[in-house]
Amino acid sequence: MRDPNAPPIRLLLVEDNPGDARLVRALLAETGGFELSYAETMADAKTWLIDNDADVVLLDLSLPDSHGLETIDAMRKLAPLLPIVVFTGLADEDVGVAAVKRGCQDYLVKGVGDGHLISRTVLYAIERKTLEIERLQSADRMKKVLLQTVRAVSLTLEIRDPYTAGHQRRVAQLAVAIGRQMGWSEHTLEGLQTGALIHDLGKISVPSDFLSRPGKLSDAAFGVVRSHAAVGAEIVDGIDFPWPVATMIRQHHERLDGSGYPLGLTAESIIPEARILAVADVVEAISSHRPYRPALGMDAALAEIHDHCATRYDPEVVQACETVIRSQGEAVFGEVGLGF
Ligand SMILES: [Fe+2]
Repeated sequence: MRDPNAPPIRLLLVEDNPGDARLVRALLAETGGFELSYAETMADAKTWLIDNDADVVLLDLSLPDSHGLETIDAMRKLAPLLPIVVFTGLADEDVGVAAVKRGCQDYLVKGVGDGHLISRTVLYAIERKTLEIERLQSADRMKKVLLQTVRAVSLTLEIRDPYTAGHQRRVAQLAVAIGRQMGWSEHTLEGLQTGALIHDLGKISVPSDFLSRPGKLSDAAFGVVRSHAAVGAEIVDGIDFPWPVATMIRQHHERLDGSGYPLGLTAESIIPEARILAVADVVEAISSHRPYRPALGMDAALAEIHDHCATRYDPEVVQACETVIRSQGEAVFGEVGLGF
């Protein structure tokens, strides 16, 4: 039973049939606790929602300016936070199920049940929507904390190794731009950004002298430097990221023709994220200043990926990288990343 002192629930009924609207009013008058408003079309609903608030929408699917399940999409776009109960005249279970799949909280069939059924359905719909919003907000908070942690880890490495300061961040910017150019989803791009921000994490185990020494390293020292891909992957292996971050890190120096390290994997074994990281990493490294040499410039970086397209580097990635650099130039490294 509802709290008798609770404020009335503001229900917006979007219904073009006056008879159906009268019936809902009569049924809900029996139960009490509702403040009803009406809109006869989607356009009316839009105007009404500009100046008024509702707690829930009872939505007819057949309106003069909107029909079928698309009505749900239109209403969700109009009021993304409002719970929606579909009010359908088609005594058809399938429409209700499809409506719920489309993002509605529940459905009612016209002429079936009394005011108490409408009232109960509407109350549950409000509760369900509240829980859904809370769940999304908490997932969002967790994601932010995760990215902040990853950034902190990334900075830790850069404090120890100032020569590559900014390298991981710049690689992340370019990698995300390439992935976006290739049409990847925001979720996959978030994973790519995460992997890129810590792709050289394993360098924490490499003496800083090896990383900054001008001239050629001995085979032994080079072997230690090369171990950073596997070491970095091991460090994050136990973290349950929603993306294959450890694999991205392990494979970022692999090359399609098997000439990379640590495993000498070939094309089909290298995950797409690592193929992008490989290109972004090498382009950033060649175009930027290093302790053991001055910056070689963007032209040299583009020549490297062009000359080894389809042998070392994935052709689709190379093409996307060239497109991005052509349109944005070096500004791509400074572009603001995903805001998650
Ligand atoms: Fe690396």
